[in-house]
Amino acid sequence: MAELIPVEAFDLIIFGGNGDLASRKLLPALFHRFCDGQITNDSRIIGVGREELDQAAFIGNVKQAFETINPLAVDKKFQPFSALIDYVQLDALDHGSWKKLVERLKGHEHKATTVYLATHPTLFGSIANGLSKNGLIHDQMRIVLEKPVGHDYESASNINDEVGTCFRENQVFRIDHYLGKETVQNLLALRFGNSLFEPLWRREVIDHVQITVAEDLGVESRLDFYNRTGALRDMVQNHLMQLVCLVAMEPPSSLSDDSVRDEKIKVLRALKPIGAGEVKTHTVRGQYTAGAVAGEAVNGYAEQLKDGESSQTETFVAIKLEVDNWRWSGIPFYLRTGKRLERKHSEILIQFKQVPHSIFDTEHFSTLPNRLSIMLQPDEGMKLNIMAKEPGPGGFKLKPVSLDLSFEQTFGVKYPDSYERLLMEIFRGNQALFMRRDEIETAWQWTDSILEGWESASQSLEYYKAGSWGPTGAFLMLDRDDRHWATG
Ligand code: BG6
Repeated sequence: MAELIPVEAFDLIIFGGNGDLASRKLLPALFHRFCDGQITNDSRIIGVGREELDQAAFIGNVKQAFETINPLAVDKKFQPFSALIDYVQLDALDHGSWKKLVERLKGHEHKATTVYLATHPTLFGSIANGLSKNGLIHDQMRIVLEKPVGHDYESASNINDEVGTCFRENQVFRIDHYLGKETVQNLLALRFGNSLFEPLWRREVIDHVQITVAEDLGVESRLDFYNRTGALRDMVQNHLMQLVCLVAMEPPSSLSDDSVRDEKIKVLRALKPIGAGEVKTHTVRGQYTAGAVAGEAVNGYAEQLKDGESSQTETFVAIKLEVDNWRWSGIPFYLRTGKRLERKHSEILIQFKQVPHSIFDTEHFSTLPNRLSIMLQPDEGMKLNIMAKEPGPGGFKLKPVSLDLSFEQTFGVKYPDSYERLLMEIFRGNQALFMRRDEIETAWQWTDSILEGWESASQSLEYYKAGSWGPTGAFLMLDRDDRHWATG
């Protein structure tokens, strides 16, 4: 593995320091980077929260959370790591309570400082404003906005306005953790580090694209949030849109922040709107009922609600979309994502067109179209399905075979969690893996039109059994086009 270079010493202030994201993702990610020597002892990690806690109690909570995730990881390195951690009690809406943070940051004004907002998005504007009013913002400061930035175009745009009055756009890092996934970045390597694929990456050669992000988990402890959100807002507006962008975008002129983001925004702007007239044929909304996942019986979504409550929230969505430009015109992109599906499985599949004419014995052997699968998780890798001659003298028999590349076997390393990579990119000030304001807002405009369409067309939910691959409607959507999902 290449030598890891430490990042410049920093102050990281995490609002929502006691929250789920901080304890499950951010602090473990920082610990791992510390263990690998990328974070130096003169950095500080300051958790900020409303709870009255002292430094020792906060460190105790962090340790406990680590032990729940991976007890083996809490070894002798935890002690030096904990020396970096501090805690400040602060209620962002109470002007008087900012004093403690001001004191804690005094004398560190020239240090690279990152403020990470892992709170409810309705607080983003107030926190930015509090930082500004208390004179804490300086040129070396970056602000990180955790997803979701808003719940529709209007709220996202208001948040961006509020944050934008205090910070310049090049100080704002909007996270989509899918952009930190190794295989997602490998899409860039595949497309632009090889000359092989580019001539094939177009409507004349490709039949369609499928993107599946399937989860076996349910909504866990986030029922309240999820019930107000649903799969379209939670997964499609951000993660799946980013995947569509990376598959569909034109080659950027470099890997610099804006070259990549300029190309992604063009894809988002080229998405054909799906409104009330199209939602019935181009989208499917589903919700899971009781079933079994990995051999274990699980409740249906509605059974987790309070007695007498019902919910129209979708836990599954499938969409047929089109990118309306020269490269992709007429080529469908089928997306699907859902909770409590058969297993965790995320994949991008490019299906090429069938050969125009078969010279083989088509009565006995059909030639299958070539498929390139990019497996995002859990088994990261790539697979290219081709037709080959079956060995032997028994005639010219064709057989589909696959050229298989497992990243873990090839590179022999376990990839770090995406937050580890993204945090390092923030400390280095690289914005390429973060969403620009226009990207987030354009993606919201597109998903808002689907949400409005669902409402005005009274699109009902289709139920699917937990542990299945989603509602029948998602299969029919492809059947109507004489296609089928590669998995399920
Ligand atoms: C989050 C969603 O952004 O992504 C969750 O809010 C979802 O609902 C999660 O479970 C999936 O992330 P991953 O990395 O496990 O695919």
